Amino acid sequence: MAACCLAAIPVIAAAQSGDVSAARGLYVSIIGGCHDCHTGGYNESGGKIDPATALAGVPLGYSGPWGTSYASNLRDSVKDMSEEEFVKFAKTFTAKPPMPVYNVHAMEETDLRSLYLYIKSLGSPGAPMPEALPPGAEPATPYIVMEPVMPKG
Ligand code: HEC
Repeated sequence: MAACCLAAIPVIAAAQSGDVSAARGLYVSIIGGCHDCHTGGYNESGGKIDPATALAGVPLGYSGPWGTSYASNLRDSVKDMSEEEFVKFAKTFTAKPPMPVYNVHAMEETDLRSLYLYIKSLGSPGAPMPEALPPGAEPATPYIVMEPVMPKG
């Protein structure tokens, strides 16, 4: 197994359901799939979480009927939020596709608190991602077109 994953196992194993800790937040972020979209290099490296890019957003657009969205820099999103404010936000926010908002709405409060502690532990917020674009606007970044293709015939 790669060094990344071996190192992560003791951290994750130490975090139990109901705990409020950054270690539990790391676990929740992996199981929740948050790194798949919000962490640069995660998919390309086979699931390695680079501390420099962890949840700092990815400037790759997702284009569809909603326009173009970018997986936000979550460090920047929480930088001015208290833990209480984050829990309230996470239970109620809306976002454009492909953000799986309902997964976050459904999280246990202790897991949301842990997620907050984990994001806060990641260090400098860094730069926000590009603003979402309305339908029809041409992105200035690489982007993925997400639209159904109907079968021929
Ligand atoms: C399939 C890709 C994808 C996955 C998986 C994903 N996100 Fe997102 N996320 C996005 C996109 C794209 C946006 C921006 C949506 C918009 O512009 O409205 C976003 C936005 C957000 C926002 C709003 C940020 C703000 O400042 O308004 C939060 C919070 C968030 N994601 C948290 C999470 C968490 C927590 C997880 C894991 C449980 C997660 N995301 C998994 C793609 C994803």
